[in-house]
Amino acid sequence: MSIRGVRIKIEDLSHRYTSKSPITFDKVNLEAKHGEIIVIIGRSGCGKSTLLHILAGLLKPTDGSVRLDDTLVTSPSPQWVMMFQAPHLFPWMKVSQNVGIGLHFAGWDESRMRERVDDALSLVDLQDYADNNVQDLSGGQQQRVALARSLVMEPELLLLDEPFSALDAFTRASLQHDVRSIAKRLGFNVVIVTHDIDEAVLMADRALIMAGSPGKIYDELEVNLPDPRERHDPNVQAMRTRLMEAFKQAANEYPSASGKDAGDESSPHSVTQHA
Ligand SMILES: Nc1ncnc2c1ncn2[C@@H]1O[C@H](COP(=O)(O)OP(=O)(O)OP(=O)(O)O)[C@@H](O)[C@H]1O
Ligand SMILES: [Mg+2]
Repeated sequence: MSIRGVRIKIEDLSHRYTSKSPITFDKVNLEAKHGEIIVIIGRSGCGKSTLLHILAGLLKPTDGSVRLDDTLVTSPSPQWVMMFQAPHLFPWMKVSQNVGIGLHFAGWDESRMRERVDDALSLVDLQDYADNNVQDLSGGQQQRVALARSLVMEPELLLLDEPFSALDAFTRASLQHDVRSIAKRLGFNVVIVTHDIDEAVLMADRALIMAGSPGKIYDELEVNLPDPRERHDPNVQAMRTRLMEAFKQAANEYPSASGKDAGDESSPHSVTQHA
């Protein structure tokens, strides 16, 4: 499979849902390099999912633009794909059929499709499950099928909205590790939205802190840690502390519309930390 990354350029991006809604975010600017993994962390309601949906071409901005290399994003494409918290598989289809669905609609012939699907299944470590029914797979395996279904289209950009938050800690950790390592091996860009500060440190090349209402990117942190990243590595822990501090500062200076403080770790909507 030949996947390459893109340069992401977001310019003066503004959004409001309707003319009566408050502004979701105002004049967001962001650039990312080819192959860079960006993690956006921020309190509930600051506009992270809205931003991701605009990047995916699923929502239109009120103003401003998103460019991937020289292409203006105005609609969804297999080149910039979104993965959600739930895998949304077709339960009556086998694993290989779910993974190959995009190729099927693109008119690929059976043998070429099978070869590409097998490559994608190997990437996510499900090569032995091609002929299984998807209902017989665990939640983590189903999320891997959804990942393979995205990878099979050779995306330049993968967008993940809290993709692992419904999974148990062990499964989540292995997917965090694998998504980063696959992205680095193949070279595509990833933008991940999360509440999970560990996820940010384990997966990001750069973590962006979004805060406030209307939302803005308040701060950013280069996560220049070597791979593989282990949760209990002192350098990982130190980076997590730095990110948590930046997050709390953003919450204090740019409180959310609800008035809840992001530094309040007892809140169900506050940032997640794992022991
Ligand atoms: N379809 C919609 N119509 C109107 N307002 C919406 C819609 N979807 C979201 N909003 C509002 O836009 C704001 C940003 O929502 P968004 O879902 O982008 O936040 P978020 O940062 O992803 O939050 P969370 O962390 O809870 O997922 C919120 O105030 C939300 O209530
Ligand atoms: Mg969201």
